[in-house]
Amino acid sequence: MRGLGPTMEKSFMQTDERLARYAVETFQPEDPVLAEIRERSVAAGLPAIQVGTMDALHLETLTRAVGARNAVEIGTLGGYSGTAIARALGPGGKLYTFDVEPRHAEVARESFRKAGVADRVETIVGSAVEKLPSIDRHGPFDLVFIDADKLNYPRYLAWAADHLRVGGVVLGDNTFGWGMIADEKFDDAEDEANIRGLQAFNRELARGGRFRATILPTGEGLTMGVKLK
Ligand SMILES: C[S@@+](CC[C@H](N)C(=O)[O-])C[C@H]1O[C@@H](n2cnc3c(N)ncnc32)[C@H](O)[C@@H]1O
Repeated sequence: MRGLGPTMEKSFMQTDERLARYAVETFQPEDPVLAEIRERSVAAGLPAIQVGTMDALHLETLTRAVGARNAVEIGTLGGYSGTAIARALGPGGKLYTFDVEPRHAEVARESFRKAGVADRVETIVGSAVEKLPSIDRHGPFDLVFIDADKLNYPRYLAWAADHLRVGGVVLGDNTFGWGMIADEKFDDAEDEANIRGLQAFNRELARGGRFRATILPTGEGLTMGVKLK
């Protein structure tokens, strides 16, 4: 994907460079506000592990499609995906976003301010497993986006199942497990723990009965479930 710049650093599962270029040039997923967030986050020493540019556009578009007004994000980093979601909520909407790293939250708050969405975003610092109950009273939620520790995806899904409205959507990123999602044997214990978490998450969404779900074939896999009951 040489020549497409940061926009194509993460593939969105279109390996034909001509088609990938067409998509990026036509849909222009990253505006100057998002580019500034991505660049400032790296300059601040954060890892460059935000969603891809086309993934941010998917998130914004899906959030709008759901008509979401009240949303949750697990894994804030520098506020890149959070800005995409918050924009789609519109004025008066609310996004609660969680990150365990205070420095990430600090960079993200600046991002939300610069993006003009600070009024609708609350950034909560701490382990999401521990902190999620602090927002229970603000539910039910329309959308939950999960993009943090893979090990805990099943726990985040259990929380989402209890706190989404019927018709609400849960999204989980990286659900192809960096190519390992279909594996049964692992060389590395940390990989194994993470992939087992992602496998349990996908399995529960596919067959648990509370959601109708699919795995969108983005570069890293984006599982999407609609709450049925
Ligand atoms: C992949 S990054 C999130 C990227 C972000 N969604 C974006 O695309 O802009 C994952 C984030 O989850 C955070 N994280 C990891 N474990 C966590 C936990 N247990 N609770 C809350 N946040 C956690 C990390 O500090 C990191 O900032």
